[in-house]
Amino acid sequence: MFSIKILFLCILVPIVYGLTRKELVDFADKQYHKLINTLKTGVQYPAVGKTGSDHWETTPPVDNQWTAGFYPGVLWHLYNYTKSDEWKQLATTATDAMYNDQFNTWQHDIGFMIMGSYGNGYEFTKNPNYPKIIVNAANHFAKRFNHNVGCTKSWDTPNPNEFLVIVDNMMNLELLFEGWKHSGNKTLYDMAVSHTNVTIREHLRKDYSHFQIPNCDPFLMSKAKNTANVGDDDFMAPEAMTNEYNHLIDIYSLSLIGAQIFGFDKNDIIDGKYE
Ligand SMILES: *[C@@H]1O[C@H](CO)[C@@H](O)[C@H](O)[C@H]1NC(C)=O
Ligand SMILES: *[C@@H]1O[C@H](CO)[C@@H](O)[C@H](O)[C@H]1NC(C)=O
Ligand SMILES: *[C@@H]1O[C@H](CO)[C@@H](O)[C@H](O)[C@H]1NC(C)=O
Repeated sequence: MFSIKILFLCILVPIVYGLTRKELVDFADKQYHKLINTLKTGVQYPAVGKTGSDHWETTPPVDNQWTAGFYPGVLWHLYNYTKSDEWKQLATTATDAMYNDQFNTWQHDIGFMIMGSYGNGYEFTKNPNYPKIIVNAANHFAKRFNHNVGCTKSWDTPNPNEFLVIVDNMMNLELLFEGWKHSGNKTLYDMAVSHTNVTIREHLRKDYSHFQIPNCDPFLMSKAKNTANVGDDDFMAPEAMTNEYNHLIDIYSLSLIGAQIFGFDKNDIIDGKYE
C-alpha cells in the first residue's frame, strides 16, 4: 500500500544507520507526534512539507486533489505496529472524516484516498462499517471506466477525443479489486484487469520502461456503431460507449443538458439523486 512508502520515507534516514524495526517504529512514532501537534486531525491533512521547515501545507479530507489518504494510512500503520489506542483513535477520526470521498467521480486518485484510509482501517480493525464504503467508492471510481478504451480515465480534459490514462492510475486499481472482494461484483475485477492489459499494451516500451501519459482515443478504438463521432462524453450515458444501448441514452443526455440549463449539479443526476 502506498502509505507505507511515506512511513518508510519518515524512517529512511535511520535505516542507513542500521536501526532495528522497533527503533524505526519508535522514530516514526516520535516524528508523527510532532506532526499531529501542528494539525487538527480530521480537518487538516498534510500535503506538502518543505525541507528545513516544520510547516506543512494541508488539504481538507474531502474533494482534495489526491493526498488525503496518506495521513490516515500512516496513522493506521502506526496503530498496527504499536497497538496504541491513541493512534487508533487518531486514525479512526482521520478516516471517518473522509466518508464523502466514496461518492467522488471527478478524479481517479480516489483509490489512494479510500485505500489509505478505509482500506488500512479495515485491514487492521475489521471494522464492519468499512467494506460497504470501499465497495461504494469502487462503484463510483468505475464510472470513469470507458469500455471502448478498456481503462479508467485519469484526468478530465475539455477535448472529448482525449482520454488520458497516466501510468500512476495502476495504483488506484487496488480499490476495484477490493470492491470486488467485498461485494463479489466481477465487473469491478474485470475493469481492473482490462485497465492492466491496456496499460501493458499502451504504456510499456520494448525495454520495459514506460510512458507516463499516452492519450487513448475513446472513439477510434470503438467497436460500437455510433451515429457520428460528435458530442461531449461528459454528457454521454456510459452505455453509449458499449455495443448495447437503446433510446434511454438520449433521455440520459437530455437530463444532463437540462441540469446545465436549469442550474442543477450534473453529478447529482449521474449519481441518481433525482430518480
Ligand atoms: C502489522 O504489524 C505486524 C507487526 O506487529 C507486522 O508483522 C505486519 O507486517 C504489519 N502489517 C502490515 C500490513 O504492515
Ligand atoms: C457491479 O459494478 C458495476 C460497475 O461499478 C456496476 O455498474 C453494477 O451496478 C454493479 N452490480 C451490482 C449488482 O452491484
Ligand atoms: C487480459 O489479458 C489476459 C492475457 O492476455 C487475457 O487472458 C484476459 O482475458 C484479458 N482480460 C481482460 C478483461 O481484458
